[in-house]
Amino acid sequence: MKAIRIHDHGGPEVLAYDDVPIPQPKAGQARVKIEASGVNFIDIYHRTGLYPMTRPCVLGSEAAGIVDAVGAGVGEVKQGDRVAYAMIPGAYAEYAVVPAAKLVPVPDDIDAKSAAGIMLQGMTAHYLTHSTYPMQKGATALVHAAAGGVGLLLIQVAKLLGAKVIGTVSTESKADLARRAGADEIILYTQADFLTEVKRITNGEGVHVVYDSVGASTFEKSLDCLRPRGYLVLFGQSSGPVAAFDPAKLAAKGSLFLTRPSLAHYTLSRAELFRRAIDLFDWMRAGKLTLRIDKTLPLRDAREAQQLLENRKTTGKLILIP
Ligand SMILES: NC(=O)c1ccc[n+]([C@@H]2O[C@H](COP(=O)([O-])OP(=O)(O)OC[C@H]3O[C@@H](n4cnc5c(N)ncnc54)[C@H](OP(=O)(O)O)[C@@H]3O)[C@@H](O)[C@H]2O)c1
Repeated sequence: MKAIRIHDHGGPEVLAYDDVPIPQPKAGQARVKIEASGVNFIDIYHRTGLYPMTRPCVLGSEAAGIVDAVGAGVGEVKQGDRVAYAMIPGAYAEYAVVPAAKLVPVPDDIDAKSAAGIMLQGMTAHYLTHSTYPMQKGATALVHAAAGGVGLLLIQVAKLLGAKVIGTVSTESKADLARRAGADEIILYTQADFLTEVKRITNGEGVHVVYDSVGASTFEKSLDCLRPRGYLVLFGQSSGPVAAFDPAKLAAKGSLFLTRPSLAHYTLSRAELFRRAIDLFDWMRAGKLTLRIDKTLPLRDAREAQQLLENRKTTGKLILIP
């Protein structure tokens, strides 16, 4: 089969379109014939070595497809089932073996591209707004990179929960998309100081929660955007990792909370995984949540896809088709 592998960590040039054997499912695993794979920032961290990988390895962290073989003892799925999954390495490929317990059934009226595309970023938007900081009417959130893959979904889910959302974006066209997703206020953080703007919009009070996936370039000011006892939810580092931090600053700035969550720890049980995925599918089917697929590329163009994502050229989801 064809797969996108890395043999070394590095820039986009290390992505290789290789011929590899079709993997065989072991006990507890199912093999998925992949119909669509999602592209995520975590794939770039795997490529660069920010999150080191044992090499050579197939990149990619989410996909949708059809179960075509199962290993011993698998009761969760059977051959022919339509499934989707996230946070399992090896999805930039024609086939992947996945722990059967991590597979979610896909409703008949959700196509493979939408199923693949909603899993990782959608479940992230879900846990950030339902579990890390439960959003509700009366709460105000600041969402950085609001027109990104996670950003557009996070805005919509926060609005479903009745919150007020302030988004930051780099360009006017991204501002337009974030507004259409439901953001109440948008700040072009490449032109205006987002701290000054947040203080103005909130009458000096600050927000209840900042969802910060940008990291290095936003972290310090994100802390200053919070009201006393506010939450800084640092969930990514698209601009680079945040430097070492003195926790005493949290007291000085208003008894703040800082957390660095990962989707893996918010989908620990099959029940939790299903709850989040089923909510997403239900909202999509009811027209309450829209997945914006920015581009669909053939698998062999994974390099181009990653370059677009890391150069801030995307709005919403990138999909690869094997
Ligand atoms: N912890 C978790 O569970 C979890 C799960 C999923 C994703 N994440 C994180 O969430 C973030 C977003 O992921 P995504 O896949 O949805 O990507 P994305 O937001 O679609 O793309 C990244 C965006 O970050 C912004 N950005 C600001 N400075 C940047 C820089 N120096 N380089 C590149 N981008 C920059 C850009 O938006 P502007 O041009 O508008 O600034 C860019 O479009 C990533 O950091 C990812 O690691 C975390």
